[in-house]
Amino acid sequence: MKFEINSRIEEASTLPASFYKNLELYEKSLEQIFVPSWQWIGDSNKKENKHCYPFELLSGSLNEPLLLSKDAQGELHCLSNVCTHRGKILVEKPGKQHMISCGYHGRCFHLNGKFRSMPEFKQAENFPSEADHLPSLAIKQLGNLLFTSLSPQVSFETVFAPIMDRMSWFNFDQLQANAQDSADYIIDAHWALYCDNYLEGFHVPFVHPGLGERLSYQNYHTEIFDYCNLQLGVASDNAPIFDIPKDAVDYGKRIHAYYWWIFPNIMLNIYTWGVSVNVVEPLGYNKTRVKFRAYLLEGHSSEEIKDSTLHETEMEDEEVVISVQKGLQSRLYKAGRFSPKQEKGVHHFHSLLAKFLSQ
Ligand code: FES
Ligand SMILES: [Fe+2]
Repeated sequence: MKFEINSRIEEASTLPASFYKNLELYEKSLEQIFVPSWQWIGDSNKKENKHCYPFELLSGSLNEPLLLSKDAQGELHCLSNVCTHRGKILVEKPGKQHMISCGYHGRCFHLNGKFRSMPEFKQAENFPSEADHLPSLAIKQLGNLLFTSLSPQVSFETVFAPIMDRMSWFNFDQLQANAQDSADYIIDAHWALYCDNYLEGFHVPFVHPGLGERLSYQNYHTEIFDYCNLQLGVASDNAPIFDIPKDAVDYGKRIHAYYWWIFPNIMLNIYTWGVSVNVVEPLGYNKTRVKFRAYLLEGHSSEEIKDSTLHETEMEDEEVVISVQKGLQSRLYKAGRFSPKQEKGVHHFHSLLAKFLSQ
């Protein structure tokens, strides 16, 4: 199946319904879209006390066993959590060990992933070689937020430049995780439907009465960049707004929230109190986990997060996304058209999906 999205939104049709129902395309998307993408892997604060923190990258789809470690110099590493001998998972739970040792035949690695020792290998020739170290992935930071990629196709700097430029005044390095306002949502829908819904504010007046009161629908607009886009949430009269410095692009605007989407599945919702990181994780072609992780800036409180009605908005979004998932099973629905004014973000997403799938 081949997709093309007309680059002129005025003429374009959406991705066909078949995209969201096809297992083969789902699997192809994992390899061609998610493997080369930049993924959020947590923050630099929480690893402070632990030297080794195992996790799966996109658990439920890629399931890539990885390990965040901090070496004696305090440097963070993102390593494969698979032993280079016969492939056992190395670290099963977070811990404070000073080296990484395999519980199968005793191979040891330094915390930076370099091979350290292995019993019974004296006669092995050309050993150890490069292949015996743990594969190491790049760690990139947006303040305290950490990102990695299994096989980056586009540099982190290229993908995130619009955010770093636009938000250079925002204290990403002050962000502190707030567990009590974080949650996982499991939704019976294709992951891309969740993104489609996020990428337009068109539905706000119809679906989100609470949020609609905070935003000025007339001034709400979307800006497209290469691998990310921004929905600028201009505030209504009485919503909290940013104090934006004079030299910034948005100085003088009454902004309630910046809604950044990073291809394919990361959302950074930036509020006066901090950031709500949303990660859309595929669990199959009709199941999705959305992680909401709240981060507070210094001097702000959990009350402000509650005021942003993130949970209520999420429930309202889930309801429409599940309804679309059902609607797309229809034999009579094929594809739709875009509102050139209101659905630029969805058009951008569909264009990127088509591009990556046709590679
Ligand atoms: S698999 Fe790790 S030492 Fe054998
Ligand atoms: Fe919504």
